[in-house]
Amino acid sequence: MSQSTKLSVLFAASFFTLSTAWAAPVAQKPEAVYDKSCKICHDAGIAGAPKKHAVAEWESRLKLGMDALVETVKKGKGAMPPKGMCMDCTDEDYKAVITFMSSPKQP
Ligand code: HEC
Repeated sequence: MSQSTKLSVLFAASFFTLSTAWAAPVAQKPEAVYDKSCKICHDAGIAGAPKKHAVAEWESRLKLGMDALVETVKKGKGAMPPKGMCMDCTDEDYKAVITFMSSPKQP
């Protein structure tokens, strides 16, 4: 590898690090939040957690209203720890991931 190739690889690598750091404050993808934080319980329905895309299990909970559900996740409920193990989630992130979990599986 020539000296200039090495330099451009280094430059590309540091640019990538910087650009991901800049991307952080932007709202997170609901699927990513789900995979990172909620999946371990909500995929299999651990300890009575309503399962992902199990619309019937979500129906009675959605009736409580989205804001109430966001508050519940932040406080924790039953076996669910406060914040649902997402330490960097905003209210908007929770809303998006709850909508994702409670809607039917997309084809
Ligand atoms: C350690 C396991 C666990 C994790 C992690 C977890 N949950 Fe839960 N969740 C539960 C359980 C158990 C319940 C059912 C609580 C009950 O009804 O007693 C629940 C219930 C809920 C409810 C319904 C609350 C209500 O008022 O009925 C919502 C909304 C929810 N979870 C969202 C999330 C979100 C969003 C995440 C990820 C950011 C998450 N959970 C992560 C276990 C978990």
